Amino acid sequence: MADVVLFAAFPYIAIVLAVVVTFYRYYTDRFSYSSYSSQFLESRTLFWGSVPWHFGILIILLAHLLALLVPGVWQDLIAAPTRLYILEVIGLALSLAALLSLLLLFGRRFYTHRISVVTSGMDWLLLVVLIAQVALGFWVALYYRWGSDWYLHTAVPWLQSLARLDPEAEFVSSLPWLVKLHMLGGFLLIALFPFTRLVHMITVPITYLWRPYQVVVWYRDQRHA
Ligand code: HEM
Repeated sequence: MADVVLFAAFPYIAIVLAVVVTFYRYYTDRFSYSSYSSQFLESRTLFWGSVPWHFGILIILLAHLLALLVPGVWQDLIAAPTRLYILEVIGLALSLAALLSLLLLFGRRFYTHRISVVTSGMDWLLLVVLIAQVALGFWVALYYRWGSDWYLHTAVPWLQSLARLDPEAEFVSSLPWLVKLHMLGGFLLIALFPFTRLVHMITVPITYLWRPYQVVVWYRDQRHA
């Protein structure tokens, strides 16, 4: 019963919530669609946190998506053991880089007073959920080996059943609970999407492409500097 609620109902609740609230925010509070920048408060740690985080996680999520959308291609890719080993090692290295840089971003907000005062409750919640999700993914990849293969026979048919509106939780119900927690974490992040700064994702690749760049400068009275 719990599996039906978690793996057949919760994913739809998360998606509906994300879509409805995202549209609601777009039509009622469009200018809040951005990531509240803290770059001018501190930029060095931000660079070392933000760049490896975005590169690492985007490549990993792209691999999740590729295996889901073209499972045949993914199966061919991992059919040769050497390619499978290389992919697993790259995945582990990228997830470790993503995890460490995320911890750096968390520490930066936690220890730098002027940044912690501009950090909302939702920012903290999102950071904690992301750290847990990436740490779980790393743990799953390390301790339940060859996930790039068993993903194709568990997560992929489960996600496809959700897309067909004919949810089949049985594909994942016998997996270890740490793996199940990681899968639920994906949908928890979808549910949190419109309430957090994650919403900047749907503005960054679109409007940032053609809008003029902006320069943030300090306005400080030089006599008191
Ligand atoms: C329903 C959604 C998701 C499913 C079914 C899923 C499933 C999996 C599986 C089976 C693995 C193990 C892969 C392997 O052993 O190589 C994995 C790894 C991982 N996942 Fe997910 N995941 C989901 C969502 C997410 C999300 C939203 C994130 C990040 C925000 C994420 C981050 C990671 C990371 C960092 C790894 C480790 C990658 C590696 O070392 O190969 N996952 N995921």
